[in-house]
Amino acid sequence: MIESKALILAGGRGTRLRPLTYTTAKQLIPVANKPIIYFVLEQIINAGIKDIGIIISPETGNNINELVGDGSRWNASITYVIQDKPAGLAHAVKTAQDFLGDSSFLMFLGDNLIQGGVRELVHDFNNGYSESIIQLKRVKDPRQFGVAVLGSEQQVLRLMEKPKEPPSDLALVGIYLFSSAVHAAIDRIKPSWRGELEITDAIQEMLNMGLRVEARILDGWWLDTGKKDDILEANRVVLDEYAIREINGQVDDLSDVVGRVNIAHGATVTNSVIRGPVVIGEGTQVKDSFIGPYTAIGKGTVLERVSIEHSVMLENCWLSDVERVEDSLIGCNTRVTSSNTKRRACRLFIGDDSDVAI
Ligand code: G1P
Repeated sequence: MIESKALILAGGRGTRLRPLTYTTAKQLIPVANKPIIYFVLEQIINAGIKDIGIIISPETGNNINELVGDGSRWNASITYVIQDKPAGLAHAVKTAQDFLGDSSFLMFLGDNLIQGGVRELVHDFNNGYSESIIQLKRVKDPRQFGVAVLGSEQQVLRLMEKPKEPPSDLALVGIYLFSSAVHAAIDRIKPSWRGELEITDAIQEMLNMGLRVEARILDGWWLDTGKKDDILEANRVVLDEYAIREINGQVDDLSDVVGRVNIAHGATVTNSVIRGPVVIGEGTQVKDSFIGPYTAIGKGTVLERVSIEHSVMLENCWLSDVERVEDSLIGCNTRVTSSNTKRRACRLFIGDDSDVAI
């Protein structure tokens, strides 16, 4: 049994999720009312790893540190490592060298999730002979990912980062296992065309050095939550898989709560219809409204005369007199109201502290 560590990458600027990521790290955006990085931590801890490093950026690192803490709530130990600039995934590993020492480690991009977790992957690595195992998934358009070519026994032959003409449809999922041999490979690579030290290039370098790299192909879902629609999709998939009916708040007799709906303590539902899967956070008030499937409403929010579905609302929002909000991602402390209700759908992507009148 090797001594196991994990490295979560939660640096980066989250540019594709602006404006939300002006005020928070993308790894903290909740799906089903839980920050994505919590799911990542739970998957790692479930695989038996409790010594966890988190790479953070100077811009959003404090938010992550405040929310995630020292790991004691999961009975784990968390070390924060600041990456001063987003210079690539291999650069992040280099930055974490003091934390990693000579250990083998699981590396996990902090905005990615896979069905079934990483238990089996970690077990295979601990009981095998490879210097690395990479997780792959067949995708329709591999050009935006790292891409692998495999031999007949799942061993990796070749890797390329974001190839214009992909040699296969096998994308790198952002979950990797490495022995300490990866550090020597990282020392040998140069920055890519996008100016980053790519982990994909480092793994290719391991192959050039004659080291054995294996792959596992994932059959289940893979969520890469880098964009608005990805968050909505993650919210849908996670609610579909994990939502359970649990009603701790107050629901009055005029309301109808159907299916897998989770209503937290202190929330109130008055004269409304809620059709699951839905989660509603602590202290939220729902009045004269309809909440449709695949919706997560954060805590401390007020909804009045609203109809909303397939959407994510963060904390402390106020939404009134808006019909048919769909496919929307709404930041914290936001106020959306309407002076006259028109029968039109709104598609919203609103950052924190906004005020929108429709
Ligand atoms: C990174 C990796 C890429 C991998 C992807 C998974 O890409 O470089 O190989 O397929 O994560 O999400 P990036 O998010 O930096 O574009």
